[in-house]
Parts: sequence; structure tokens; C-alpha cells
Amino acid sequence: MKKNIFITGITGQDGAYLAKYHLDQGNNIIGGARRNSERSFWRLEKMGIKDKVKIVDFDLLDYHNMLDVVKNTDIDEFYNLAAQSFVGTSFRQPFYSLKCNGLAVCELVEMLLEHKPNTKFYQASTSEMFGEVKSIPQDENTPFNPSSPYGIAKLMAHNFVEVYRKSYGFKGYCGILFNHESALRGNEFVTKKISNWVRELHNNKGEFETPLQLGNIYAQRDWGHARDYVRAMSMMMKLEQPNSYVIATGQSYSVKDFISMCFNEIGISLRWEGEGLDEKGIDTESDRIMVEINKDYYRPNDVEQLLGNSLKAYKYFKWKPKCSIYDLVSDLVWDTV
Ligand code: NAP
Ligand code: GDD
Repeated sequence: MKKNIFITGITGQDGAYLAKYHLDQGNNIIGGARRNSERSFWRLEKMGIKDKVKIVDFDLLDYHNMLDVVKNTDIDEFYNLAAQSFVGTSFRQPFYSLKCNGLAVCELVEMLLEHKPNTKFYQASTSEMFGEVKSIPQDENTPFNPSSPYGIAKLMAHNFVEVYRKSYGFKGYCGILFNHESALRGNEFVTKKISNWVRELHNNKGEFETPLQLGNIYAQRDWGHARDYVRAMSMMMKLEQPNSYVIATGQSYSVKDFISMCFNEIGISLRWEGEGLDEKGIDTESDRIMVEINKDYYRPNDVEQLLGNSLKAYKYFKWKPKCSIYDLVSDLVWDTV
């Protein structure tokens, strides 16, 4: 039967992939988008689905707007993907991030419980909640230890959903998703920043003005493909019992590894020289400096290593990723959705 799917954050990376996934399943999509001076639907357009989704006004920071949407919309599955999603910004705008990613989610949960208790709710939780990790790999039993305002806010929302699930039977599902990327990723995230630079280098036949500037290239991430991860969201929402699940590939690479993979994709191999702020990535063939370290891109605090174990998701709904890290690098460098 056709389901009514509501997606907050429809203009974001996951919003676009999730909308496409549900449209392919034959469902109706209603997307929540906030007012901007120029609302951009480039991701939905790039996916070829802009005209297939209904857009309504939705802002996490407007209580009455959220209440109006919840009360007056017929929704089977509600996916809360909207957030201030950039960890770096959360250090500069901590209270905005706490409101958007934490408090507003608690308000939303409360109003759904009161007005639409049969609606299933998905919360976009995150591996950033593990922060300075207590064990490797991380799974649903690993203690949370957030190290950014973003992580603190997401943990607040995550805990709230879990407590409401246990206390009131709230139908709240949490996907603890590790980093996932695609050609629809925002330009400020490290994978997109690297792959954009590399693609331009290729398009400009090797010419560039300034080497690629990056911060902590020793951070390690478990990077998956957004297409696989939205499939996991939908699969967990099909289960009768709500629960929380880690979604990850089980493989971790450093930012430095990722840089080399992107350059390899266009046939350039790098060698590394120097240490700390003086470290440089150099084209082995031409000896030109391609990558430099820039202290401006360091964060006040960073998550050094993320590696997820998603065996629980495999056990309960047979999810595992289909895309390899090489598929992901290829989609990013060649801008393929
Ligand atoms: P994204 O591309 O940055 O999209 C975020 C979306 O949230 C955008 O549609 C944005 O709208 C919307 N938004 C921001 N503030 C809002 C507000 N006040 N009211 C309503 N909408 C607002 O992020 P994503 O990568 O798709 O991630 C989706 C969700 O998963 C986020 O909650 C993120 O924190 C979480 N998550 C992501 C990852 C990952 O690796 N991608 C991993 C774990 C968890 P505008 O277009 O108007 O800015
Ligand atoms: N963005 C960025 N830009 N990151 C850099 C840079 C740079 O120039 N140089 C090094 N890095 C490092 C960051 O310090 C971090 O350790 C790592 O690259 C990844 O950064 P991001 O791509 O910004 O992602 P993130 O891991 O901080 O956060 C993403 O994943 C979370 C899940 O773990 C976001 O999508 C969050 O919304 C998500 O919850």
C-alpha cells in the first residue's frame, strides 16, 4: 500500500536520496523545507525528482509551524533529517546547533506522541555521538562521549527518543549513521572538498592556482555511500519494534588515505613529505605540491577515529552496504549520483 512519507531536510543530501528511494517504492513524498532568500532544490533536480515531491514549509526553530505540520498532515513515516549538520560550524554556533539538533527534536517527538501516536518516527542520530571513542569498533553498546556541540545536541535528541520509546511506547527509530557521502554532499565536508578540487584539476588539464588546503589529515572515518544509508533508514522503519541501529561499513580510512584515493582516480600518485603544518602531498611525476596543511581548517577538538560495527542491523533487517570505498571515490570525483 502507498505510504505517506514526510522528510524534514528534503533539500539536503540524505533528503534527496531518501525521497528517490521511497518514490521508487511507489510512496508519496512530502518534504519539509525552510524559508531561505533563495530556496535551492538543486539536489532534487539533479536526482530528477523535483516535480515528484510535495514541498511544505518546515523549520525546526518554529514550534507552531512544526505543530501545524504534525497536526494537519497525514503521515505514515516521519523522517527527521533536518539539522545544522556541519561539526565545524557547531563550535562557532553552539547554541543554534543545540536548539536545532537537540531541543527542537524533543519538541517534535512530544508533539508527535500527543497528536500522531501511530506515526513512525526516524531520528538521524550519528557516530559523532561516540566522540572521543571509548572502544574500537563502535556499536550500539559503546558508551557515548561527544566532543563537539553538534555531538552533544544529537545525543540529547537520541536519548530523548530512546527514553520516550521506553516510557510511552513512542515509535521512534534511531539510525546511528557513520559518515556517508555522495556527489550530493555539501561542499564544506572533507570528501567533497577533496574530490571537487581533484575534478577541477583534471578538467583544467593539471593547472591550478593554490594547492588543496586541509586541516587534520590523520582523522579516520568509516565512510559509506548515502544511497546505501537511506536504504538502511527505510529498512529499519519496516520493523514492528522500534530500536536503534549502527549503520557503517566496518572499514576506516584516514583523510590522508582518502586524498590519495581521489588523486589516484585521475591517474596521479602522491608522495608525502614533512610533518605537522609543514606536511605536503607532492605529485610524484611532476614534483609539484598538490596538498598543503592549513591551521585554519583544524577544529578546537576533533574525533580522531570512527569505525562502526553494524552487525545488529544485519541481524535484524539484513542490511549491509553495496558500495565500496572505490565506488564512492569514483562517484565523488566524477560527480555521479
Ligand atoms: P545536509 O545535506 O546538511 O542537510 C541538512 C538539511 O537540514 C538541509 O535540508 C537543511 O536545509 C535542513 N535544515 C537545516 N536547518 C534547518 C532548520 N532549522 N529547519 C529545517 N530544516 C533545516 O545533511 P545530510 O548529510 O543530508 O544529513 C542528514 C541528517 O543526518 C542530518 O541530521 C545529519 O546531522 C545526520 N547525519 C549525517 C551523516 C552524514 O555523514 N551525512 C551522518 C550521521 C548523521 P537547507 O537546505 O535550507 O540548509
Ligand atoms: N570539513 C573539513 N574540511 N574537514 C577536514 C578538513 C577540511 O578542510 N581537513 C581535515 N578535516 C577532517 C575533520 O577535522 C574531520 O576529522 C574529518 O576531516 C571529517 O570532517 P567532515 O567531512 O567535516 O565530517 P565530520 O566527520 O566532522 O562530520 C560528518 O559526519 C558525522 C558522522 O560521523 C557530518 O556529516 C556530520 O553531520 C555527521 O554526523
